Amino acid sequence: MRGSPLSWKALLLTPLVSQVAFSIELDLSSEESIKSAAKHAAKGMLSYYSGYRPGDVPGNIPDPYYWWECGAMFGALVEYYYYTGDDQWNDWTTQALLHQVGDDNNYMPVNQTRAMGNDDQIFWAFAAMSAAETKYPDPPSGQPQWLQLAENVFNSQVARWDTSTCGGGLHWQAFSYLGGYHLKNSISNGGLFNVASRLALYTRNQTYSEWANKIWDWSEDVGLIRSNYFIYDNTDSSDNCTTFDETQHAYLPGVYLHGAANMYAATNQSKTWEKRVRGITNALDYFFENKNHNVMSQPCEIKDCNLNEQSFKAYLARFMGATVPLAPFTEQSIMTKINASAIAAAKQCSGGSDNKCGLRWTEGDQYDGKTGIGEQMSALEVIQSTLSRPKRKPVSSGNGGTSTGNSPDGGGNKKDSNVKTRAMTKGDKAGAGIMTALFALVPIGALVFLTL
Ligand SMILES: *[C@@H]1O[C@H](CO)[C@@H](O)[C@H](O)[C@H]1NC(C)=O
Ligand SMILES: *[C@@H]1O[C@H](CO)[C@@H](O)[C@H](O)[C@H]1NC(C)=O
Ligand SMILES: *[C@@H]1O[C@H](CO)[C@@H](O)[C@H](O)[C@H]1NC(C)=O
Ligand SMILES: *[C@@H]1O[C@H](CO)[C@@H](O)[C@H](O)[C@H]1NC(C)=O
Ligand SMILES: *[C@@H]1O[C@H](CO)[C@@H](O)[C@H](O)[C@H]1NC(C)=O
Repeated sequence: MRGSPLSWKALLLTPLVSQVAFSIELDLSSEESIKSAAKHAAKGMLSYYSGYRPGDVPGNIPDPYYWWECGAMFGALVEYYYYTGDDQWNDWTTQALLHQVGDDNNYMPVNQTRAMGNDDQIFWAFAAMSAAETKYPDPPSGQPQWLQLAENVFNSQVARWDTSTCGGGLHWQAFSYLGGYHLKNSISNGGLFNVASRLALYTRNQTYSEWANKIWDWSEDVGLIRSNYFIYDNTDSSDNCTTFDETQHAYLPGVYLHGAANMYAATNQSKTWEKRVRGITNALDYFFENKNHNVMSQPCEIKDCNLNEQSFKAYLARFMGATVPLAPFTEQSIMTKINASAIAAAKQCSGGSDNKCGLRWTEGDQYDGKTGIGEQMSALEVIQSTLSRPKRKPVSSGNGGTSTGNSPDGGGNKKDSNVKTRAMTKGDKAGAGIMTALFALVPIGALVFLTL
């Protein structure tokens, strides 16, 4: 793909485009340079989005991308606005985050629930929680509020906690008729842990810290979080969680690390949570063990990362950056990695005439030919996360936060049994969520069936 005839032709035929822009510029000593590189990556990411156009669906991205990644993308843009102050995409962001709330204001829109994983839903709650923590502009009154949305997602998910197998845990899928329901996976449980711990710090409501403790303890006890703080993808409830898919995905330490850092702050720096934050921070080396020391990579990059995996470095970078101000003792270790990865990611933004960002940051400025929302989002989030120190200062209720939640008697969540979904198709039952786990487990013959 490198230097394909088409892109070279495009370059030659476009005299107004700078012909020496081999990769985007990034000078970490200049805030302006960081903001400009982030803007470039964001712009490339949004070239795949058309939901703001009349007649299109806000908060949806075209196939083959899944709905959850759109929640992730707008979460990245909430963070983008916070770090850069550039509000040019806020209208699209607010529109998308409000269009997808669903009838019960908990990110279960009718169009999506028929194939929804807990992990899919939680990525929208990450965005709402970021908005509350960073004072992203509040929706007009009469509309659901960021904190309230995150609380409602929390309440809908804790109702799915299932103690009938494995001593507890969330299933991957929200509903038992979806393929892969039998798995209890780390992104679902770690995602809920992340939101619970952020709600605990933001609201100081004990319900959230109790759940954060409970989910962490379960994740450790069942063996998803190992004693060396490696985090495995999933375990199988059909054998009471005695077998594991040991794949380690980059977003898993991200969600657990940032959640633990929130609990560290919420408990006034307890030793228990400090140990966990340190443990995961040290274990992050797994994703930085390559010829370019300190540059983030995932094992899948050796062959080919699937569509979902192409975006996972975005969330590790986001949550590493957000951890630093909550647990300042991580700064040296985390920012060394973020800085080096941001420089490497910017070099990889050298594809075609418009500097598309590639996937393999370890490859220097030899563009690896990969393009997509995940690649752009990963570059965006690692670049803007270099601004975490000293910029980032999360707010909370009574401490600068303006987002409001449910009143104590609020919540207003319908039981899942009353949830409206569109008619099911055979394809839906295969589950359309974050499918890395399922594809890793099903035999080839079944794959053929799934794609039919
Ligand atoms: C659901 O799908 C319909 C048809 O594509 C669309 O008009 C509507 O905006 C969608 N709703 C949401 C919340 O995405
Ligand atoms: C299933 O696992 C849980 C937690 O690990 C354990 O408490 C329970 O006894 C196990 N049940 C069976 C039937 O083995
Ligand atoms: C943490 O400190 C704050 C302020 O001093 C106090 O209000 C709160 O109760 C403490 N929380 C815990 C869990 O110790
Ligand atoms: C990261 O880069 C910034 C900007 O150059 C610098 O101030 C900071 O010290 C770096 N952090 C680490 C841990 O290298
Ligand atoms: C604490 O949060 C839970 C879960 O959202 C909610 O049911 C409860 O009413 C909240 N308590 C207070 C005092 O706000």
